[in-house]
Amino acid sequence: MQDPNEPIKPGSVIGIIGGGQLGRMTAVAAAELGYRVHVFTPEENSPTAQVCEHATVAAYDDQDAIEAFGQNVDVVTFEFENVPAETVRHLSQLAPVRPSWECLAVSQDRVKEKTFCNDLGIETAPWKEVTNPMELSVAMAEIGTPAVLKTTRMGYDGKGQVRIHADTDPNQAWEQLGGGPAILEGFINFELEISVITARRPNGTMASFDVVENRHKDGVLDITIAPADIPQDLADRACAIGQKMADALDLVGLLAVELFVTHDDKGNAHLLVNEMAPRPHNSGHWTQDGCKTSQFEQFVRAVTGVALGTPQRHCDTVMKNLLDADALLWEQQLSDPDNKLHLYGKSEPRTGRKMGHINRLYTKGSQPKC
Ligand SMILES: Nc1ncnc2c1ncn2[C@@H]1O[C@H](COP(=O)(O)OP(=O)(O)O)[C@@H](O)[C@H]1O
Ligand SMILES: [Mg+2]
Repeated sequence: MQDPNEPIKPGSVIGIIGGGQLGRMTAVAAAELGYRVHVFTPEENSPTAQVCEHATVAAYDDQDAIEAFGQNVDVVTFEFENVPAETVRHLSQLAPVRPSWECLAVSQDRVKEKTFCNDLGIETAPWKEVTNPMELSVAMAEIGTPAVLKTTRMGYDGKGQVRIHADTDPNQAWEQLGGGPAILEGFINFELEISVITARRPNGTMASFDVVENRHKDGVLDITIAPADIPQDLADRACAIGQKMADALDLVGLLAVELFVTHDDKGNAHLLVNEMAPRPHNSGHWTQDGCKTSQFEQFVRAVTGVALGTPQRHCDTVMKNLLDADALLWEQQLSDPDNKLHLYGKSEPRTGRKMGHINRLYTKGSQPKC
């Protein structure tokens, strides 16, 4: 097996688990550096498979297909984190898996994730694990309302969440969630949502992109504003949290951390970690056009163990997600020469489906106050 300190050379094969847009943009960045990509996904004609050399289309628990995949790649990474444990354990015997299984396990499970943060002294919303309606009722009294009930695993884009109010019936809320395990989390009246993406190499070297502001619509990211309009010391604190978490996980690859910004009665700013993702993140898409190195190139550099690029921002950028029918307006979007349009090659627009995004560039400091 590969010495972890030896860089994986251009020409080698990067195996990506998951065939969505994050894998697609990673595969393009990998190709630019001379790497070859083999994707493993259950989806036919996936966004990633459209742009890479090999695709294995098989279920994540197809042991024969996993075995063959592991034998044909030089390193394995993920474009989403909900991969069955057994698949990853098996793969790690065949090729280096970056980030490691331990990193995935923490990010797959909200209880592990929040415990990990709190153990490091990092603040989160108040939370409690709940496994049935009775425990939910106790947690509602303890945490208070409003609150958010979230499934422990598999939630994304606001799915797997139910808002809880003082008059909510715990049995009904439990049913609406579709069962547990879950956590009840205090609702945070935040001023701003921000995120930070950190790259970390096998030797521990790190580099972070600028801290950005994220605005959501119906639980789905709508726009990212880069950089976030916050004081530098607060941005530095967010960055330090991301790096502390990446180090504690001994993570190789990218770690995206989402945070809420609040102020207490004395006017002191607080940063609460909402969640993390050990992979490229939607709030990092702006780096494709606003930074010298994109998050996708940085991801490839980190998992192959070569030198990181500079994450420096050369342009202020606003990224807008294109959901379902938004992507049909491509002609109009392209007719504005300041728009950088990125489409993911998905054929059917479905409600809430991420079809592409637009990066709009502004000279430093001239970005409109959105
Ligand atoms: N405790 C909370 N208080 C206030 N808003 C929240 C809370 N938890 C989630 N949200 C809102 O919902 C969005 C999605 O929730 P999140 O926990 O990030 O789940 P996911 O992104 O996996 O769907 C957040 O970005 C935030 O806007
Ligand atoms: Mg989130």
